[in-house]
Amino acid sequence: MGHPLQRCWKDCAWQTVGDMHDRYEKIPVQVYPEAGEAACRVAVEIASLIRSRQEEGRDAVLGLATGSTPIPLYRELIRLHREEGLSFSNVTTFNLDEYSGLDANHPESYTRFMREQLFDHVDIGEGRTNIPNASGDSAEELENKCAAYEQKILDAGGIDIQLLGIGRSGHIGFNEPGSPVTSRTRVVTLDRITRLDASADFQGFHNVPRTAVTMGVGTILEADKVFLLAWGKGKADVVRIAVEEPESEVVTASFLQRHFNAEFVLDEAAAGDLTRLRYPWLVDSISWTRRMKRRAISWASGKTEKPILKLVDDDYNESGLGDLIAEGENSYSLNIATFNDFQHTITGWPGGKPDANEETRPEKSTPHPKHAVIFSAEPQDALVGMGATINRLKEQGHHVTLVALTSGNLRVRDEEALKLIRCLKTVGQSEQISHQLGDHVERLQVGDAEAALNPEVRKLKSAILRAEVVDSASALGIDEDALQFLDLPFYESGRFRQFHVTDADHEAVAKLLETLNPNLVFVAGSVADPMSPQGIAFQLVAAAIRKFPITTDHIWCYRHREEALKPYEIDMSVPISPVQHELKGNALQRLRAVVDLRNEESLNDDRSVAAAYDELGLAEYEAMEVFQRVKVEKL
Ligand code: F6R
Repeated sequence: MGHPLQRCWKDCAWQTVGDMHDRYEKIPVQVYPEAGEAACRVAVEIASLIRSRQEEGRDAVLGLATGSTPIPLYRELIRLHREEGLSFSNVTTFNLDEYSGLDANHPESYTRFMREQLFDHVDIGEGRTNIPNASGDSAEELENKCAAYEQKILDAGGIDIQLLGIGRSGHIGFNEPGSPVTSRTRVVTLDRITRLDASADFQGFHNVPRTAVTMGVGTILEADKVFLLAWGKGKADVVRIAVEEPESEVVTASFLQRHFNAEFVLDEAAAGDLTRLRYPWLVDSISWTRRMKRRAISWASGKTEKPILKLVDDDYNESGLGDLIAEGENSYSLNIATFNDFQHTITGWPGGKPDANEETRPEKSTPHPKHAVIFSAEPQDALVGMGATINRLKEQGHHVTLVALTSGNLRVRDEEALKLIRCLKTVGQSEQISHQLGDHVERLQVGDAEAALNPEVRKLKSAILRAEVVDSASALGIDEDALQFLDLPFYESGRFRQFHVTDADHEAVAKLLETLNPNLVFVAGSVADPMSPQGIAFQLVAAAIRKFPITTDHIWCYRHREEALKPYEIDMSVPISPVQHELKGNALQRLRAVVDLRNEESLNDDRSVAAAYDELGLAEYEAMEVFQRVKVEKL
């Protein structure tokens, strides 16, 4: 294998990209409607490498990643092994990285992850799987181990296909911002964003290891073929930087621009910030729908820092929107139409306003009252994402049911469980506790990660979160009997990155939907990582609606963990007065047990959306909760 820099033919790669789609992308990018399809495509490439090597009597060397992203791909490889006879007997693997200081059996160790997600399910030879070893040696010993890892890759003939995910810090492997392009396998300090993103897995930020061992950027660039996979809106921004901005140490994934055979494989949500999707008029001539005009004109308004109604023809031309004017319209009429379009998304009546002209309102008023069903993946999601709207629906006489699909117990901090145990002991329940929890209490106290996964501990945590959610909902005027907790089995029997959806999950959601028969539905997770509880919850609700058509032709999507909706994505904005904002703040304060709760952030997000509407020249509100309409036929 030559040195990566000798093998670069960046100019040619640029050319290829130019042919593919547009002049913005510096790496070939394939976009698929959803992650499963994308993962299958990569699995096919891997399978074909393995098989062709088998025919030649040679080995295939794979570079593997961990995390949520490769899971659908590993599941497909396992399926190919089980159902289509794909053998891994000639495969050698090298993993990208491993946390420092974790025992191989720690639930979050990448060694265990690989066993559970792939190695235990295929016929890969013992001794053919390699994971960097990051455990407690002296600095010098660690350095030697890292060098030996590099040597082992070379001895195996180099990596044929390298799989990568991308962190929100822009890392590949654990090459955090600042990692040089020439870096090799070494010990690194994890970025704060990386540790924050792992904090739910580790039951809190402070439990996330500070360091790890990772292959270097230079090591990765030596692979013959590189696939970087990314799913969900959470990755969209960093994907765009890696693909479209000049390469830099700030986002180490951008160094893939210099690889001769690297490809990004994305779902639509992760690709959503690429210029060709976000600003398609800059890339190609397009057919202008109303929504596209709204997007383009609000973008021009932001770019020129002028409210919509003040845009003039020159602003359109200078923003690359000359063809909109050329189509026979002028800026004046376009401005007014777009302004009205935005104005019509605003309503204080999320369930429709009775006896009002409803032609331009986001939601029809009949029937009234409605039966609104609001789905949360984890019980707190809807309160955080749309607490003020829930309050309004209730105040406006609708029948409101909040459905928590999972118990959310994985997000409850160990300290909360210990606090409850202490309370129960104080009121004389010691015996009951020891009977139920045995030595798990002591193990929890010393931060044993396995103890946190014990079913009895999780049951206790479910009870804590449930009580908090009931309390929080009551602050928004929602009684306990309006809350339904489904505790879906995929969550109870899994953990983050280890969720397996079965028919039992589908049946439970479909049955509930049939019983409730709502005519107003809210759900989050449409652009979430499909492996996250939110992503899975959305897919379950969508499948249930396909099975049991509801009596409305659309549902409303709110954002919970993902980046807030941009004005052009919004179909309904519910203004929040200062008093209601305070009410929501009060409700959210009652949720304390959850790791990484986005209370403050979500209250600020509500303010930011209102500020964005204000900047477009619309009315100035304290805050807003916003929703996107999704047609049932599109689910
Ligand atoms: C994991 C790794 C990381 C992850 C990245 C994305 O081995 O090297 O770079 O690929 O942090 O993580 P997920 O897939 O969990 O979003």
